[in-house]
Amino acid sequence: MEKLVVTGPTSLKGEVIISGAKNAAVAILPATLLIDGICTIENLPNISDIKISCEILEKLGAKITWIDKNTITIDTRNITTTKAPLDLTSKFRASYYIIGAMLGRMGEIEVGMPGGCKLGARPIDQHIKGFELLGANVKVEKGTIYAKAEELHASPIYMDIVSVGATINVMLSAVLAKGTTIIDNAAKEPHIVDVANFLNTMGADIRGAGTDVIKINGVEKLHGNATYSVVPDQIEAGTFMLAAVATKGDLTLKNCITKHLESITAKIIEIGGNVEDNGDSIRVWCNNRPRKANIKTLPYPGFPTDLQPQMGVVLSLAEGTSIINESIWDSRFQYTDELNKMGAKITAQGKTAFFEGVEKLNRCSSIFFRFKSRCSPSSCRNSSKWYNRNI
Ligand code: UD1
Repeated sequence: MEKLVVTGPTSLKGEVIISGAKNAAVAILPATLLIDGICTIENLPNISDIKISCEILEKLGAKITWIDKNTITIDTRNITTTKAPLDLTSKFRASYYIIGAMLGRMGEIEVGMPGGCKLGARPIDQHIKGFELLGANVKVEKGTIYAKAEELHASPIYMDIVSVGATINVMLSAVLAKGTTIIDNAAKEPHIVDVANFLNTMGADIRGAGTDVIKINGVEKLHGNATYSVVPDQIEAGTFMLAAVATKGDLTLKNCITKHLESITAKIIEIGGNVEDNGDSIRVWCNNRPRKANIKTLPYPGFPTDLQPQMGVVLSLAEGTSIINESIWDSRFQYTDELNKMGAKITAQGKTAFFEGVEKLNRCSSIFFRFKSRCSPSSCRNSSKWYNRNI
């Protein structure tokens, strides 16, 4: 079992360079399956999900060369099988993007149900609905997904729920489909725009990514011979911003897109922190104890659920009682039990938690993270990465 020892108290001060976005990278890598050529991807985050994604692609026949720890070239001209390795695909959530990409490329895929962090029920009905509307036949049997299409044809697709994964997956499968697919009620997260930008760089014709209507004009093929750099990670940047506030620190984050951080910036200012937006870098500092606030997690551009636990730590130290309403996932307050062991006063009831702020948290000899056994700390950034650095 991995053990991290954190010695505090301390204030975080200095500069940090933000990595490429995990949630964009884990979609861009399978998206390379749609390309009949070689491309280079830069600014990949150095985390286990990326290594596993590369292993899956190699098992399908892709050739990957690591240029440095953040850059690869990938040759997807020779895809040799339509069976994705079940042991690897079950290790993380985003393996479901193999389905959309392989339906587009080969018209067929057999893949295990995706793994991932335990956040409550994580259905993929909207992904399946999209694939079926594009002409695929999808079966789920004993934990394996079988998807097959003689030919993918365009269709209007209305998403019943705003889903990041379903929006990207359906976009992947529609890129090479015949005709114009329109995804309505699409998610708008920065990584959706990034995946669309990547595909367009390779010859796709996707318009409207970042709005709730995405139009995909199917093209005959995607070419390689291009280099793409993954967008900076909004969640990692937000994590450091909140860490600066929680520790009364002063951090400058380089390589970030401040527009993507507006919901976090607004809340930090509301609770008494300071934010200086310098275009491609952002400075966050806080001299005083934060004030209470109420938060509701929402799809982008709302406050991201992936920053909810980090904000929970800040609010557990704030003056007054704060309320967080988690509107995306059913079970995203498990971390509050561990914070309570450290002296926080948090009461979680279903999807709402009440944070009665305390002056400080105490040392605790063992904090236990409820990772799903298959979910490694580096892939499960949602609470651990930040938490371990700052207690
Ligand atoms: C992605 C992120 C994850 C983040 C989440 C919400 C990746 C790899 N992961 O997860 O870090 O927490 O967005 O911002 O990008 N839903 C359905 N049916 C579906 C799909 C989703 O009911 O077919 C529901 C989910 O249960 C959830 C909500 O829609 O309540 C949002 O889920 P979704 O946006 O799909 O999350 P993921 O793409 O899995």
